[in-house]
Amino acid sequence: MRNDNLWVTIDTLGATLRRLRVRDGDGWCDLALCCPEDGYMGRTVGRFANRLSGGRFEIDGTTYQLSVNEPPNTLHGGEHGFSSQEWEVVSAAADEVALRLLSPDGDQGFPGRLDAAAVFSLGANALTVSYAATCDAPTIVNLTLHPYFNMGLTPDIDDLIMFVQAPEYTPTFSDGIPTGDVSPVDGTGLDFTTPRRLGEARAAMIAQHRDRHGRMDHNFVVPGDGVREMVRLIGGGHTLSVFSDAPHVMIYDGAAFDGTLTGLGGKPIGPHAGVAVEPQSMPDAPNQPGFDDTVLRPGQIWSRTISYMAS
Ligand code: GAL
Repeated sequence: MRNDNLWVTIDTLGATLRRLRVRDGDGWCDLALCCPEDGYMGRTVGRFANRLSGGRFEIDGTTYQLSVNEPPNTLHGGEHGFSSQEWEVVSAAADEVALRLLSPDGDQGFPGRLDAAAVFSLGANALTVSYAATCDAPTIVNLTLHPYFNMGLTPDIDDLIMFVQAPEYTPTFSDGIPTGDVSPVDGTGLDFTTPRRLGEARAAMIAQHRDRHGRMDHNFVVPGDGVREMVRLIGGGHTLSVFSDAPHVMIYDGAAFDGTLTGLGGKPIGPHAGVAVEPQSMPDAPNQPGFDDTVLRPGQIWSRTISYMAS
C-alpha cells in the first residue's frame, strides 16, 4: 500500500509488516529492518506476546501447559505461534488489508478456538494495525506487532534518539520473567522520559546492572489508557511515533543479532541493528498477581490498536 508519504508491504505469513518506507526527498527511506528469515521481525506475535513463566497459566482453576520454546518458558505464543502461521486475506484494498487467523482449541496448548483479525490501514501519515479477537472458551490474548526500527541508520542504532512516555518499568529475572515489581526509571539508563541517545542510555543501563545479558529488553509502564503516544524515535532525518491503546510497551534493542542474518541491500544484521517497539500487556501477566487481566471470555471482543506515524 502506498501514498505520497508512506509505502508499506504486508505479508500474510505471520501477518507481517515486511517494509515500512517513508518519503525521503525523491526516494524512500526504510524505517524498519527487513529479513524474512527472522521468525519474529515485523511479525504479529501471539496468542501471547513475550514470556509465560513455566510455559503455563491457569484460568478458573484449570492449568494449561503450552508449547515450550524457550525452556522452561513459552516465548511469543510457542513453537508455532501466530508469527509463523499463514493468515488468510479477508479483503485487500488500496489502503487497507484485512487478515484473519482461526486458531483452533489447543493450538500451542492454549484453550478455546480464537478467531483473530489484523487490519492494516494506511492513512496520509500513519500505518495503523487494528487487532480483534473472539473465542469460544476462556483463553488469554496479547497480540502485538514486532518490527525492529532503525530509521534507516546502519550498522547500528546507537545514535537513534528515543523518547518513551514511561516513568516506570517492570524488572525481570535473568530469563526475562518479571519479578513482579514495578520500579521507577528515574536516574537509570531506562529513563527515556526526555529524548535520549540509545547508545548512551545502554551504557548507563549496563553500568547499573539493569541489563538482561547485555540487552535492553524491558517492559515500560505507560500511564493512561486509550490510544496515546508511547514511543518516539528520531534519526536519519525522520521521526516515527508509535501510538497504542495497549497498557505497556516492550522495548528490545536487538543486542542478540550477530550478523548471521542479512537485511536490505545484503547488509548483515549485527548487534543493535534495530530496536523492537512492541505495545502489549505485561509479560507473564496471567501468572503475576496485580498485572493486567489478559483473559478473554466467550461473548467478549478483545481489541488492540497500534499506529506508526512517520515523517
Ligand atoms: C522480544 C523479546 C526478546 C526476544 C525477541 C525475539 O519481544 O523481548 O527477549 O525474545 O523478542 O528475539
